[in-house]
Amino acid sequence: MVRIPEHVAIIMDGNGRWAQSHGRRRTYGHYIGSKVVDDITKAAVEFKIKYLTLYTFSTENWKRPKSEVRFLMGLLKSSLKKKRKLFKDNNVRFNVIGDVSVFDEIIQNLLMQLMDETKDNEAVVLTLALNYGGKLDILRAAKTIAKRVEDGELSSKDINEKLFEAHLYTANMPDVDLLIRTGGEKRISNFLLWQAAYAEFVFFDKYWPEFTKEDLWQAIEEFSQRKRRFGGL
Ligand code: IPE
Ligand code: IPE
Ligand code: MG
Repeated sequence: MVRIPEHVAIIMDGNGRWAQSHGRRRTYGHYIGSKVVDDITKAAVEFKIKYLTLYTFSTENWKRPKSEVRFLMGLLKSSLKKKRKLFKDNNVRFNVIGDVSVFDEIIQNLLMQLMDETKDNEAVVLTLALNYGGKLDILRAAKTIAKRVEDGELSSKDINEKLFEAHLYTANMPDVDLLIRTGGEKRISNFLLWQAAYAEFVFFDKYWPEFTKEDLWQAIEEFSQRKRRFGGL
């Protein structure tokens, strides 16, 4: 019997290298990669994964050439505009983590609309990590808690794991069970640092635009065979 992880998080890496290996511009890889997101969202519903979290744009990705960042923002806008039907037909609840206040108003409005329209859907919670960094997430929680202590709402004695987690972007989400990274690199790149503390990692050498539903299933099968001890015996 296969055990389905409740929360799958994916570092969708390798778009640029995939495109270049086909003699195309990096941006073409992002375009094809954005289509794979839809296939994997549907597969998550089919496999009964409850939470799917996709690393879409990191707090470090602003370091890229302006032209690539501009392309990614345009792609985000145009693909968000097309998501309504996918979410409705597949009963997907849409969610975002990260500091989206830096995005243009049109993107922010699209994000809010999609979250609001899908809030009663229950097949899967699809979370896009946008301008997300694990360090940002933890620092932001620490600052919010510090402010609440300053304001006398909380005492420093009240700070524990549960309280801390409630101040992360992922409040109300379970920890990551399975973390997948495509594109051959074996690192976390500032993704869900706190939430992946006991995640099982599965790496793929293939690039994100080549990732399929069958690959996702293979990762789940591999997850299923791992013995998770959480520090116990
Ligand atoms: C992942 O693919 C997408 C983003 C980080 C936005 P990359 O753009 O990192 O592609 P590679 O890793 O350079 O091939
Ligand atoms: C991680 O990929 C970020 C996303 C997939 C959004 P990167 O390509 O930015 O990571 P590094 O630079 O290889 O660590
Ligand atoms: Mg990369």
